[in-house]
Amino acid sequence: MALLPILSYPDPRLHTVAKPVTLVDDRIRALAADMLETMYDAKGVGLAATQVNVHERMLVLDVSEERNQPQVLINPELVWASDDRVKNEEGCLSVPGIFDGVERPSRVKVQALNEHGESVTIEADGLLSICIQHEMDHLMGKVFVEYLSVLKRMRIKSKLHKAQRELER
Ligand code: NI
Repeated sequence: MALLPILSYPDPRLHTVAKPVTLVDDRIRALAADMLETMYDAKGVGLAATQVNVHERMLVLDVSEERNQPQVLINPELVWASDDRVKNEEGCLSVPGIFDGVERPSRVKVQALNEHGESVTIEADGLLSICIQHEMDHLMGKVFVEYLSVLKRMRIKSKLHKAQRELER
């Protein structure tokens, strides 16, 4: 197991569209284990492969209080989304220190493969629903700040640039 470096917005690689996983094998299981370790270490609830610069459709998450219910979703596909929408405060390990409201469908149904290559269907609401949608956006090259106004996004970019420069000093 290993901690993986997480790409930070506005790194252009975060806008890469991920390709489907063709085979759920030991390589994918090792990647899933590393992604989970990285997510727990960074105290996140979800992490998409895109964020660790692997451009394959795969994400990990754990929305449990106890942090003991890891889930791996491979090739996730949205099969249904509710008409009712909710606005939630979102954050992202690739956009450190930034939290803002994003409106999304409140419930979704997603089909995916688990780390054993078995088909799973997940009906999600609450935090799980938000988290799955947020991570699936990453796989399409979309970061949550892109839902915000241009002005807000400019402020976030300059704030993150400043933080980056101070880190490099
Ligand atoms: Ni994120």
